[in-house]
Amino acid sequence: MNDIVLLKGDGIGPEITSTVVKILDAAGANLNYKEFDIGQTAFDKVGELIPKETMEAIKECKVALKGPVTTPIGKGFKSVNVSLRLAFDLYVNLRPAKSIEGISKYNNVDIVTIRENTEDLYIGEEKDIDGGFEAIKRITTKSSERIIRYAFEYAKKFGRKKVTCIHKANILKKTDGLFLSLFNDIAKEYSGIEADNKIIDNMCMQLVMYPEKYDMLVAPNLYGDIISDLIAGLVGGLGLVSGANIGSDVAIFEAVHGSAPDIAGKGIANPLALLNAACMMLDHIGKKDVSEKILVAVDKVLKAKAILTQDLGGSATSEEFTNEIVKNLQLRS
Ligand code: NAI
Repeated sequence: MNDIVLLKGDGIGPEITSTVVKILDAAGANLNYKEFDIGQTAFDKVGELIPKETMEAIKECKVALKGPVTTPIGKGFKSVNVSLRLAFDLYVNLRPAKSIEGISKYNNVDIVTIRENTEDLYIGEEKDIDGGFEAIKRITTKSSERIIRYAFEYAKKFGRKKVTCIHKANILKKTDGLFLSLFNDIAKEYSGIEADNKIIDNMCMQLVMYPEKYDMLVAPNLYGDIISDLIAGLVGGLGLVSGANIGSDVAIFEAVHGSAPDIAGKGIANPLALLNAACMMLDHIGKKDVSEKILVAVDKVLKAKAILTQDLGGSATSEEFTNEIVKNLQLRS
């Protein structure tokens, strides 16, 4: 039985994590959940967004499933997600996105985005200058090399055919220039995988016009952030897409949407994004057989279209939708 840190988070977080646990248990994932607070809920209890015990638990278990958190209103709060990435050096942000027949706006998307997670403009170094402010964009050889190598290794492992590097090296000749030249060098080590590169603005247009031409993308932090939400839109929105933050020791899996305070407590939230994150987690801990079982059941429910949550065009509650997935899991076994 694997130990998993379960961070329910805020808003719809507790609802969707309970739902996902129900599905994981029904699928026979055999996980031992260790529940800890994070976000506004933790702040209200102990005055910290990420309490020390939560950090310790993640360090010890090495794998966490995290619900969305609310960023408290007011100045001086560091983003929980950025803090976790920096504390555990979670240098990879992995976002697979695949079209779902009849639900996605585009039916030809199957793209894995690998975003560098620790530097670029997200280091948050801003300073006053005459007449305004200035922000530092940091791109280092070490961080760029490891994310680019991770992308090619992922392509090799999962049989992906092409990796496209996203950059703006025509303008940012040193920072993005370094990222692109490291990409070109590392690509030479992977002769069976096609290497391609696109300038960020062109990439946005290409993805909207010809998403089927793209397989895997690797990008510095900011471009990766923007492009992965664009791709989420192509496949049906944030309610469906999940992400993993992975380091050499710790990995944290989450939905990419926020805590959705507007629908919290109404029992109508779509648990699929967090469920997809849980499936990525199962793959990570060597339980691909269980994740495949869940994905087949989900696929059946989505294709049948009889019981869907409101964001997917249906009228079912989260509970009804969850029960339908569980029913399909049981039908299969
Ligand atoms: P949001 O993603 O929470 O909500 C945007 C819209 O999508 C809302 O209308 C919401 O009802 C809907 N939505 C989101 N998830 C859904 C789901 N599973 N099922 C059905 N509908 C869903 O973004 P918003 O409102 O900008 O942020 C709310 C809070 O979440 C903020 O405090 C923000 O800082 C935080 N946030 C946290 C994230 C995280 O923990 N990973 C990511 C993004 C935002």
